[in-house]
Amino acid sequence: MKRLFFIFVFCSYFVSSTAQNAYNIVPQPVIVKSQADKFVFNKGTRVIIPEGDPAMHNASFALIERFMTASDIALKEETLSEENKDMTNAVFFKTDPKMTNKEGYRLKITKERIEVEAAEAVGFFYAMQTIRQLLPPEIEKSTTSGVEWAVPCVEIEDAPRYAYRGLMVDVSRHFSSVKDVKRYIDLLAFHKINTFHWHLTDDQGWRIEIKKYPKLSEISAWRYRTLIGHGNAAAKDRKYKQERYGGFYTQEEIKDVVAYAGKKFVTIIPEIEMPGHALAALTAYPELSCTGGPFEVEGNWGIFNDIYCTRDETFRFLEDVLSEVMELFPGTYVHIGGDEAKKTRWERCHHCQSKINELGLKNEEELQSWFITRIEKFVRSKGRRIIGWEEVTEGGISPEVTVMAWRGIQKGITAARQGHDVIMAPQTFCYLDYYQSKDRETEPLANGGYLPLDKVYSFDPTPQELSAQEAKHILGGQANLWREYIPAETHLEYMLFPRLAALAEAVWSSRDGKDYEDFKKRLVSGVLKHYAALGINYANHP
Ligand code: ACM
Ligand code: ZN
Repeated sequence: MKRLFFIFVFCSYFVSSTAQNAYNIVPQPVIVKSQADKFVFNKGTRVIIPEGDPAMHNASFALIERFMTASDIALKEETLSEENKDMTNAVFFKTDPKMTNKEGYRLKITKERIEVEAAEAVGFFYAMQTIRQLLPPEIEKSTTSGVEWAVPCVEIEDAPRYAYRGLMVDVSRHFSSVKDVKRYIDLLAFHKINTFHWHLTDDQGWRIEIKKYPKLSEISAWRYRTLIGHGNAAAKDRKYKQERYGGFYTQEEIKDVVAYAGKKFVTIIPEIEMPGHALAALTAYPELSCTGGPFEVEGNWGIFNDIYCTRDETFRFLEDVLSEVMELFPGTYVHIGGDEAKKTRWERCHHCQSKINELGLKNEEELQSWFITRIEKFVRSKGRRIIGWEEVTEGGISPEVTVMAWRGIQKGITAARQGHDVIMAPQTFCYLDYYQSKDRETEPLANGGYLPLDKVYSFDPTPQELSAQEAKHILGGQANLWREYIPAETHLEYMLFPRLAALAEAVWSSRDGKDYEDFKKRLVSGVLKHYAALGINYANHP
């Protein structure tokens, strides 16, 4: 603590003692030592990378691509050699295997050259994102002229506080094209967020092609009406847009997105909801429900009674689905949902009640534990792990299950104390579908709740009351964007930005160095200008 304080004061001294350079970087790096002067990119600038690791090209390409798009500068990539090792006008990548955080990097910008050190390609990639933020915002544009491509001289040491830094986007309530999903991934990389949680299935639409169950694409992916206005309206006042709405990603498209994300060092976690939020699937396969249906893909928002029945056919279906999903997504985790599963149907279903008797369970909560455990074992048998929303702990569950806390910090604390790995995504700090201004009249329709920028910024994924041992279970934090009220991409951008920047700093930067006013200054003087150049419809509340 004392040392961190010292570093903080030391850095503040340097930042404030040199007037001419400003460093508008978000998330704030661990150490920023201000230097005078600048480095200017030109047509002769090279990027020199070590030989051997193909992922290094993805890191250097992050910078090369920006210049290629924005300017007439084609940065030349070379591998490190005797001839070029002392060259000026170059960005040098030097591998330092001793660096313990593989996402960390050191960046030294002088007038003559830029040196970057990291243990792995991902660290170099994040150094390129830092350089991107130090460049004039025109670097985000598709054509420019007359810009001096200068970055201020500086020495930076940086590494994230958490290994898990995520954003969830719900594409069930409203769908996003492949092009838009790729844009989210680009913007995650800009904020050094490394995980995209893709909420692919829900009551209102199933969005992933599963070869063995074609009706998921033919039927479950489409709804025929969508509620107009807020979901809390009385039934008699509800009006609907009577229109076929939906879509799904083919497996080829999913592979394309996964490969794209890999190049941006973003891991995708697919979510397949169970046992609740399953009406879209049950519409196509009503035999997997307790009542047999019929159902329709929902055009209302909320929590519905019909969920998967616990009969064997359900598990055959879900295991087949998960097998195809695991083929497509190479990451460790599969998210199996688990939230908001009403037990109304299970209480009255003779299959589900016989299952409770046969297994000697106490109640429907324990039946849910049995359900999730069966899925967990299946996923683990394939060498993967599951994440579930915090409700999966109700009725007891293996500590192998990673818990995503959403109803509040306390749920995450309890789960960590039970020995679960925990991802903190409490609605009090992380639900970006909430209003961001008190003046609701001037804001687009939102889910309710109030989550202004400073509240997101104050998010601390590791509650102080956890012991050091318990705190090791907190993998990181995540923002969630539920899409009931967010059909348009411009609206989505308005909800995400700049609150996602605040979240990024909460999960990357150290707790001790956090300063909201300083964050706002960096945001306004730097990041918002990059957003504007990118054409993002951000909320201009700061
Ligand atoms: C949730 O917000 N239902 C996870
Ligand atoms: Zn049943």
